[in-house]
Amino acid sequence: MAVTIIYLEDVTVDFNGFKALHGVNFFVDYGELRVLIGPNGAGKTTLLDVICGWVKPESGRVLYGEGKDIQRLTEHKIARLGISRKFQTPSVFVNLTLFENIELSLRRGEGFWGTLSSSLNGEDRDRIFSILNMIGLADKSSERAGSLSHGEKQWLELGMNIVVQPSLLLVDEPVAGMTGREREKTGELLQAIAKDRSVLIVEHDMEFVRQIAKKVTVLHEGSVLCEGSMERIQNDPTVIEVYLGRGEKGEREC
Ligand SMILES: Nc1ncnc2c1ncn2[C@@H]1O[C@H](COP(=O)(O)OP(=O)(O)O)[C@@H](O)[C@H]1O
Ligand SMILES: [Mg+2]
Repeated sequence: MAVTIIYLEDVTVDFNGFKALHGVNFFVDYGELRVLIGPNGAGKTTLLDVICGWVKPESGRVLYGEGKDIQRLTEHKIARLGISRKFQTPSVFVNLTLFENIELSLRRGEGFWGTLSSSLNGEDRDRIFSILNMIGLADKSSERAGSLSHGEKQWLELGMNIVVQPSLLLVDEPVAGMTGREREKTGELLQAIAKDRSVLIVEHDMEFVRQIAKKVTVLHEGSVLCEGSMERIQNDPTVIEVYLGRGEKGEREC
């Protein structure tokens, strides 16, 4: 089996003459949890958009798994290959229960767009409940998603992402707008999720990054500036200069 699950080779994204990504070489291994940081406008979200097929690069290649070139595929086909994207704002169905939200996601993942009325088999029910347990919301399974706090909606959406058992999960700024306790819980949840798959997380909050990160990639003006352990990143003079800033090391928001 390949070691690398996703490989961006010399990828350039051009928005009407502006290069949001400029010759990016970037790869993530199977089973890895990677954090992507960098100043605003560095190209972090664009990089996730390229992997999930929302944005098509001007040049370069995007290789998945055993080397399948996915850059010309639709986002729908890419999702079916096992790449799941969690967007910044939660998009749960507020009038459906938590159980139904996850059920709907499971049915879509299996390519079935029918109503919720046709019955689920026991295995699917167990799967949904195991996800509800994992995200810590099993006791609210029959409540409407609209009644959840912002943090809980984010966890529900993570549950909706993982019920389809993706091989690679892409997460954009998961802790924005969360309380301290919610951030900590999100970190624990993402680490648990990463036990069974690769996870690529974009995040601003340096305390959170320190909580979860093993390997960090720093993007700057559309290029990879530095990559390595948190310790290496925090002590890299260029990263300190352009990103972490002149204030306390690592405390400034990007
Ligand atoms: N659809 C688009 N059209 C034009 N410019 C874009 C578009 N999407 C992003 N950009 C620009 O590309 C740069 C990188 O954006 P983005 O990937 O969102 O950065 P980040 O997530 O690191 O803050 C920004 O300067 C942004 O304004
Ligand atoms: Mg962004």
